[in-house]
Amino acid sequence: MPLQILIISDNESFTTYLGELLQDAGHATRSVAQEKEAFPAIRRQKPDLIILALEASKIAPLAIEHRVQTPEGPRSVPVIVISECLRLEAELLQVFDFIGKPLDVKRLLEDVAAVALRKSLPSQDQELEPRLAAVFSRHILSRSGLHFDQRNRPALTRGLLKRMSALRLTDFKEYFQYLKEHGEDRHELQKLLQFLTVGETYFYRYPAHFEVLKERFAEHAISTAPIRIWSAGCSTGEEPYSIAMALMEALPDWRQRDIRIIATDINNRSLKRARDGVYSPWSMRITTPEQSQRYFRRVGESFLIRDEVKQLVQFSHLNLSIPCREPVCDELQNLDAIFCRNVLIYFTPETACGMLQRFTRALKPSGLLFLGHSETLLQRGLDLELRRRERSFYYVKSASAAEPGVITPLPLAPPAEADPYSGLTAEQIRLATAWLNEQKPWQGEANPTPTQTPPQPSERSDRSQPPEPSRPVAAAQDDAQLLQAARELFDREEFDPALELLELVLRRRPDLPEALVLKGFILAGKGALEQALTTSERVLALNDLLPEAYFLKGVLLDAADRLDEAAREYRKALLLDHDFIMPRFHMGRLHLRQGRLAEGTREIRNSIKILSRCGEEETIPFSGGLTRAVCMLQLQNTLARVT
Ligand SMILES: C[S@@+](CC[C@H](N)C(=O)[O-])C[C@H]1O[C@@H](n2cnc3c(N)ncnc32)[C@H](O)[C@@H]1O
Repeated sequence: MPLQILIISDNESFTTYLGELLQDAGHATRSVAQEKEAFPAIRRQKPDLIILALEASKIAPLAIEHRVQTPEGPRSVPVIVISECLRLEAELLQVFDFIGKPLDVKRLLEDVAAVALRKSLPSQDQELEPRLAAVFSRHILSRSGLHFDQRNRPALTRGLLKRMSALRLTDFKEYFQYLKEHGEDRHELQKLLQFLTVGETYFYRYPAHFEVLKERFAEHAISTAPIRIWSAGCSTGEEPYSIAMALMEALPDWRQRDIRIIATDINNRSLKRARDGVYSPWSMRITTPEQSQRYFRRVGESFLIRDEVKQLVQFSHLNLSIPCREPVCDELQNLDAIFCRNVLIYFTPETACGMLQRFTRALKPSGLLFLGHSETLLQRGLDLELRRRERSFYYVKSASAAEPGVITPLPLAPPAEADPYSGLTAEQIRLATAWLNEQKPWQGEANPTPTQTPPQPSERSDRSQPPEPSRPVAAAQDDAQLLQAARELFDREEFDPALELLELVLRRRPDLPEALVLKGFILAGKGALEQALTTSERVLALNDLLPEAYFLKGVLLDAADRLDEAAREYRKALLLDHDFIMPRFHMGRLHLRQGRLAEGTREIRNSIKILSRCGEEETIPFSGGLTRAVCMLQLQNTLARVT
């Protein structure tokens, strides 16, 4: 079918060449110069396709991207960009195709033919069925090392749909074919990864880590050795800039020092934003006014990183899951510290194991390793000691570390007979062990500078080893621990492993209300609403003083549109636990849905009041793993919509 094609280009001879080429292929073309003429022409002519020829020297890439993608821009019209400025490709992820110069004519004609066939956009609420999700996950895993399990299926689905919209593919299977065919030659895998690895971050996340860093450098202030720190998976730059700020505070003579913070990420868009160094107040949510003033310049609503901070940080592209071959890799050795926080979640345990091995090698003796709060070392053999600081933890490479030997992952075979763990699957053992590991009593900062005194056996710090299973562990204690492990997995939305642990507890204690109620929430999340409702009633028959059980029942009745009954259950949950945020929030929303504005607003305000007493990083119970900050935002948004 012939298309109406609008060519936007400032280069007259190229416009003529393109026009002739496309007319020969049976299409009608019009052309305009960029700048002012383009947008009126789009509105007037309503083209089926726009071809935008970009001269690198003329237009700032972001301005173009912005103009192409804004709602006033031609978002509903497919756009093909042709440019010699190849780095633009990573910026323009929503366009139908990006073709470099010299122009590949065959590819352009193929694209135009495809636009003629692909008329509609994919529906954004379609579900990715488990079998196909597994196919995508395997493909992505084998080529990038990124691991998408059931827990992050919504993120996978969102990312796929974004690329499918750009390519006007409506079907996941079709997109899979495209990904297989053009993963390399059209960089499709790279483009998809940009959507799959968008990273939540903010300045001074886990403040205790920066305190540890400051203390370490304050202690060694007289040394003039170069300082090298790696922020691996730095996202949009908040983490490496916070490191720079911490060093500036710890070392009064930082200007005379040789300091380099090497910040790497797989996502080019994030790296671009990091280099730009422009942040919204949301990134600054725990930054103090003094820090904002010292390290940022305020321009309107934005905060711009000051140049003196910027110059300490160097950003580079790096995929952590493949062997390191990029130029930056030469610098990643003899490091004082590595921050790799909230990145391991993207990897399988095997890949994560390889990465941790590499990190250990890259650190100096006594170097520091910081991981995210939910990431623990699940392997032995690494020359790292666990230390805790407030509610955070970090690792220190031993002062006399030799090259690390062979890393032994946790044993995957179930332990021998008569073991308290017998009957558990390998995954259950791993989870339970990881959790038990975390529960070991804290030995504190007994030995903050491991260079000086080797730890005595009695005050030995954790060695990232699985605990010696104390045999026999009392069954009741086991159950309590497994239940706690299940609760933590549940809070992190790792529902399947949580359910496995619960089943294990319930096998021994089928009437344990706390285990049953968690199981009920998981069943509800999986859509087994009837079964979940029966479970909630069973729990209440066993213990009618359990607020979570009333909340579960309320949520299920709410979902079934039995609103008055739901409200009664929420009320009972709140009578038993006045500070239980989620039933209060649900109650508030239920009032609002039923038009009771005053009552709804009151409940939401009360929820905000209660929430403001929680710790910043605390996960809100039964919220689906929301931190206080995110939950607060949701409440405030709800309030803003009605007041
Ligand atoms: C949640 S962010 C963490 C940002 C920061 N470290 C923090 O904790 O605030 C995770 C980052 O890991 C990056 N990432 C994911 N897979 C990666 C890989 N294979 N190689 C390098 N970076 C990766 C993502 O692009 C994202 O920017």
